[in-house]
Amino acid sequence: MGYYVTTPIYYVNAEPHLGHAYTTIAADVLARHMRQRGEDVFFLTGTDEHGEPVALAAERLGTTPRELADRNAVRFKDLARRINATNDFFIRTLDEPHVAAVQEVLSRVERAGHVYEGVYEGWYCPRCADFKTEGELLDGSRCPIHRIELEREREENYFFRLSAFQEPLERLYAERPDFVLPPHRRNEALAFIRQGLRDVSLTRSRLTWGVPVPWDERHVFYVWFDALLNYYTALTYARPGEDLTERFWPADVHVMAKDILKFHAVIWPALLMAAGLAVPEHLFVHGYLLMDEHKMSKSLGNVIDPFQVMDVYGTDALRYYLMREVNFGQDGSVSPEGFETRYTTELANEYGNLASRTLAMIARYRGAVVPAAAPPPALADDFDGVAERVCAHFDAVEVTAALDEVWRLVRRLNQYAQDEAPWQLAKQDGAEERLDVVLLGLAEGLRVASVLLHPFMPESVERLLGALGDEDRSLARARFGAGGGGRRVGELTPLFPRVAPTGAAAA
Ligand code: MSP
Repeated sequence: MGYYVTTPIYYVNAEPHLGHAYTTIAADVLARHMRQRGEDVFFLTGTDEHGEPVALAAERLGTTPRELADRNAVRFKDLARRINATNDFFIRTLDEPHVAAVQEVLSRVERAGHVYEGVYEGWYCPRCADFKTEGELLDGSRCPIHRIELEREREENYFFRLSAFQEPLERLYAERPDFVLPPHRRNEALAFIRQGLRDVSLTRSRLTWGVPVPWDERHVFYVWFDALLNYYTALTYARPGEDLTERFWPADVHVMAKDILKFHAVIWPALLMAAGLAVPEHLFVHGYLLMDEHKMSKSLGNVIDPFQVMDVYGTDALRYYLMREVNFGQDGSVSPEGFETRYTTELANEYGNLASRTLAMIARYRGAVVPAAAPPPALADDFDGVAERVCAHFDAVEVTAALDEVWRLVRRLNQYAQDEAPWQLAKQDGAEERLDVVLLGLAEGLRVASVLLHPFMPESVERLLGALGDEDRSLARARFGAGGGGRRVGELTPLFPRVAPTGAAAA
């Protein structure tokens, strides 16, 4: 079985910001790591193009939903490319095969008796595309997220019998304690389920911007059903003539932020059960990127433009910063200052300089050939088992912990260089062998750390491994001592050059 990882599909009602980049980068790091392990990977991202959020935004902008979707889908595709996402497909919910597959699956759900006609009466936030309970509202019947005043809606809808899945869902959570990660999100989802589930609207009759309901053309499907199914439908048409569901369904992990936990942790598995499809192995629910304590979001306007940051600092620096700064699974603040600090102290100094110094010393003292020596035991001990530890973190989708594990070794190598002072050894008579060992140790350590860093900073690592004369970046190579001496090293221009602070990290 392959390894299938997804991001949410992003609404095309506005342009992408750093928050979207964050999720896609994390999912890409995971996909790249799994490929390094030799897994057969499918990585999906895309855009959510139906529903009220998009229809209303188009109206505000004086354009059509389709035009707005076409325009912003391109921006999201550009973002995926710029951050070096290795997604195997980019789904758009306007794709005709997606629409047809949604109709097919939901008709099956209807025929199986999980759908009935009724009247929805209650609160609805058009910006969330979400039905709100009385208890969720702020004073003055306002949306807890958008803070706009909501109106009571009364609409004839078809309903999905979510309530019938209360027990199956509780059983799923009991049998698979790691269905939702991290654990505190699982508890949140389970608490929601235990409160008692109410049936949910499956269709809308007021709205026309959506997938038509085949058995009643006066309705379109409620956007969340259309959207959630993307994870499945994509596999049916991403490779024409091939049904990828056999290789990749169910998904190994759906990655998302906590804003859409309820849809994924409750409605999605229930819908899959209703359709007779297998439920995903895991959901991984990460926290929010915050700016000055507030969630970065288009409605608050406190967004950073990822394109601008990458123009100045490059893609790898952004990937590294986001994965390192905001512990994956928790909320965390980002800021231009924080970014510049990590860029200089960690990327330029700790990693970039280590790489340049190591290569320069091998060139200067050993004619640009890594000396053939036995690997230093002091370093070997530190590197022992590191690949296994990194894999264990990735298995639990602990992306930041995996990075921290490797970064400890980068720091260890700097310490080693400092302690052994090869530039002194080079001046001492009789220290030739010692110098061989130290240089080999540094080259080996750098190589192993870099192989493990490859999913995070692919371009920089590619260049560095090239200069180290060993381009094999499969995980099997991430063993200290597997590299050996005798390789010719090349030159390396600075991986993370000094950048004049331009404030470009700010929007
Ligand atoms: N279209 C729905 C998702 C459907 S999935 C079947 C949607 N779209 S969205 O454009 O609002 O994207 C929400 C997702 O964007 C979050 O779950 C998260 O992955 C990402 N983020 C948006 N802002 C973010 C932060 N400030 N911080 C972290 N993630 C952010 O919801």
